[in-house]
Amino acid sequence: MPTILAAGGLGFIGSHTCAVLLEKGLNVLVIDSLENSVEDVFYQIKKILNFAKSSKKGNFSFRKGDVRNKEFLRKIFKEYKLSGNQIEIVIHFAGLKSVGESVLNPLSYWDVNINTTISLLTIMDEFKCNNLIFSSSATVYQLEILMNKKVTEESKLSPINPYGNTKFTIEKILSDVSQSESNKWRIANLRYFNPVGAHESGLIGENPKDKPNNLLPMLLKVINKEKKELSIFGSDWPTKDGTCVRDFVHVMDLAEAHVATLKFLLNNEPQIINLNIGTGEGTSVLELIDSFKNTNKCDLPYVFEGRRPGDVPYSVADNTKALKLLDWKPSRSIEDICKDTWRWNKANIKINEKLI
Ligand SMILES: NC(=O)c1ccc[n+]([C@@H]2O[C@H](COP(=O)([O-])OP(=O)(O)OC[C@H]3O[C@@H](n4cnc5c(N)ncnc54)[C@H](O)[C@@H]3O)[C@@H](O)[C@H]2O)c1
Repeated sequence: MPTILAAGGLGFIGSHTCAVLLEKGLNVLVIDSLENSVEDVFYQIKKILNFAKSSKKGNFSFRKGDVRNKEFLRKIFKEYKLSGNQIEIVIHFAGLKSVGESVLNPLSYWDVNINTTISLLTIMDEFKCNNLIFSSSATVYQLEILMNKKVTEESKLSPINPYGNTKFTIEKILSDVSQSESNKWRIANLRYFNPVGAHESGLIGENPKDKPNNLLPMLLKVINKEKKELSIFGSDWPTKDGTCVRDFVHVMDLAEAHVATLKFLLNNEPQIINLNIGTGEGTSVLELIDSFKNTNKCDLPYVFEGRRPGDVPYSVADNTKALKLLDWKPSRSIEDICKDTWRWNKANIKINEKLI
């Protein structure tokens, strides 16, 4: 049975994607350094699988290690080949992802994001594994393009921070690699918009090790009384209510997009494809806060602060291409996002208490 390697698969998006792949009966191996995740996530995914109704469930294993380490990767690829479970597909989630941190520490972003990719591609090629899904990002698009209308995959690319530059560069590396032997590589760059929410079970969700940078983890700090008020950056943007508008996509919809992409790649000729993965709907920060309060009947004090450098007022995907090519359609609402985030937070407080 072939194996799917999920590099960085214990992180936020990787863990949800593993759960969906395993429920479909696919075998998954995670390699993760635990730089921004914990081993407990592996056991939580196993629990999800135990509860799952699906009759055919995949095998799940985990190796702790750094994806930049070619020797380590080579050993694992060899071991899986010899056991008859060769690695045939890689989903590359591994990397550093904070825009702000990347401005302060660009070298570590270039080192981790680029070198994980080069090591993976080198070893994949050695073992004739040429199917790759890469976690790209909406940050690759030019700022002005993101300002006022939905972006298509053909919109101009021109990132403005080191994090976005690494994603843009990786897309270029992948394009070069696929052109070098165009009848061999099947590659998809999934440009995620704003992944949020959590698994419906409440067993896995977003749990950054360091200071959270994304809206929902910051919001949960207020809910958990670790912070007095939620900071909203900018109240005078040219949007419906003055706050930034984003394309919030439920992480389970995003996880399902990976399965659909896998099917698409394997059923079509070798190629490299870019796909925007978002809902195509814009929600303002204030709308999300209101929905969170109403759905979960909670109080959520907030305060307006100045605009953050590098923020754009409007970032929404034109997802026509993904809807057309993939057997996929995002189905979860903003209310689902709020409900699932709430459930995950309640459970996560208990998990953290247990770990301490
Ligand atoms: N979450 C978002 O808002 C978002 C948006 C667009 C793109 N992305 C991209 O999607 C991918 C996954 O994002 P996420 O939110 O799940 O992030 P995450 O930090 O939760 O997950 C990344 C995982 O990679 C692991 N990792 C980091 N460096 C590693 C290394 N050298 N070797 C092995 N493992 C390593 C971390 O321990 C973590 O488990 C990232 O590449 C990110 O840039 C995320």
